Amino acid sequence: MSDRRPNPFPVLLNNDVCSLIQAAENVYQIRFKNRAANAYLVRGKSRTIMIDVGLSSNFPHLLECLHHVDCPPDKIDMVVLSHEHLDHIGAAYHFGGHTIIAAHRLAANKIMLRDDFSMLRKMFNEPPVAINIDLWLEEGNLIDLGNFRLEVMYTPGHTSACISLFDPEQGLLFAADTLMAGGVMGGIFGSGSIADYIQSLRRLKGLNSRILLSGHGRLSDTPQEDVRIAIQRSHGLLSDTAQLFDALDARSNFEPIMQSVRDLNKLDDS
Ligand SMILES: [Fe+2]
Repeated sequence: MSDRRPNPFPVLLNNDVCSLIQAAENVYQIRFKNRAANAYLVRGKSRTIMIDVGLSSNFPHLLECLHHVDCPPDKIDMVVLSHEHLDHIGAAYHFGGHTIIAAHRLAANKIMLRDDFSMLRKMFNEPPVAINIDLWLEEGNLIDLGNFRLEVMYTPGHTSACISLFDPEQGLLFAADTLMAGGVMGGIFGSGSIADYIQSLRRLKGLNSRILLSGHGRLSDTPQEDVRIAIQRSHGLLSDTAQLFDALDARSNFEPIMQSVRDLNKLDDS
C-alpha cells in the first residue's frame, strides 16, 4: 500500500512539451518538459500577470496552455521576469509592445544591455532578440491584481538580480530559482553569491507560505520544510566552496584577469 498523499494540484492539459497544472484558484503552472523554466499565470480580478515565460521555442505550447484557460496574451497585463536567465525570459519578446514587461532593476539592466554572458544565451541557444523591460522593480514594490497582492522581495544569490513574489494573504510564494520543491537550490551563477543566497533563504523561511511555486520542478505544499532543507544544503555548499578556494592557487588564476584589465586601461590612457 502506498503512503503517498494524493496530488493536490490537478493537471488540466498534458502534451509532449508541457503540462498545465492548477496551483490554486486562478493560479496556473505551465511546466515544460525540456530545459525551459516554469511559467505561471495569475488571473486577478482587476489585472492578470505571468511570472516568467520560458524559452522562445516553447511559445506555441505556452499559447496552447493560455488558450486552454481562455487567457490569450492580449488578456495579460504584465509579464514579471524573476531574473535574467533566458530559460525564464526567452519568450518575453513575444509579449513586448502590448504587455508591460517588468524585472528587478539589476536584471532589467543586464537584459537591456543585452549582456549575453549573464543571460546564459549560449547555454540556452536562444535567438539574439532584444527584450525591452518597461518597468524596473525594487524590493518592497507591490503588484495588486485585485484579489492577489504580490509583494516583490529582492532575493539575490542565484544571481545578483533575483526576485521572489509573495502573496501573504494566500500564502503563495513564487521563488523562481532561489527555492524549489524538496529544498533543491538553483545554484550560484555569475553575479550570484552563496552568502547572499543564504540570507535570501532565511528571509523566505520567515514567511507564512502555503504553496511554493518554483522556477523548475513540481509545485509544493510544504514550503517550510523545503526552505529548511535548502538552508541546510546552502551551508554545506558554503563550506565546500571555502575548501575549493583553499585548493586553488588564487594568484595564478586571477593574474590573467588582472592583466586584461591592465591592458584595457592602457588602451583608454592612450
Ligand atoms: Fe536561473
